[in-house]
Amino acid sequence: MTYGAVHFTWTPDFCEVCPEKLPNYEEKIKNFFKEHLHTDEEIRYCVAGSGYFDVRDHNDQWIRVWVKKGGMIVLPAGIYHRFTLDTDNYIKAMRLFVGDPIWTPFNRPHDDLPARKEYLENFLKNGGSQTIDATA
Ligand code: LAC
Ligand code: NI
Repeated sequence: MTYGAVHFTWTPDFCEVCPEKLPNYEEKIKNFFKEHLHTDEEIRYCVAGSGYFDVRDHNDQWIRVWVKKGGMIVLPAGIYHRFTLDTDNYIKAMRLFVGDPIWTPFNRPHDDLPARKEYLENFLKNGGSQTIDATA
């Protein structure tokens, strides 16, 4: 019997969100909290600190996901979301990606993007239930 092996390479990318470590902190934090989507998955592993990832449910209501040290979240391409710090005001996140990193946010509304349409198709196919992977 033979086993296949999956090879992938990635460059660790750490994003520290606090005034001392993040250039243009005020502007970035404001933009993180604007509702947006990406054309790729948003994968975050929380190395330190904590923060809130808000995602829209099937009724377009916010679901708040509190990600803390050791926790990880995977947002599918095309989902509307936003991010904010909690009262501890600090998170260090490892940003994982498949292929080249694309962090471009498309602020709502961007319903004509293929990634948005695909997301809605997958989401409707699943009968209105969706999975946001989050651990810990
Ligand atoms: C991002 C998070 C903040 O796009 O949604 O990096
Ligand atoms: Ni995002």
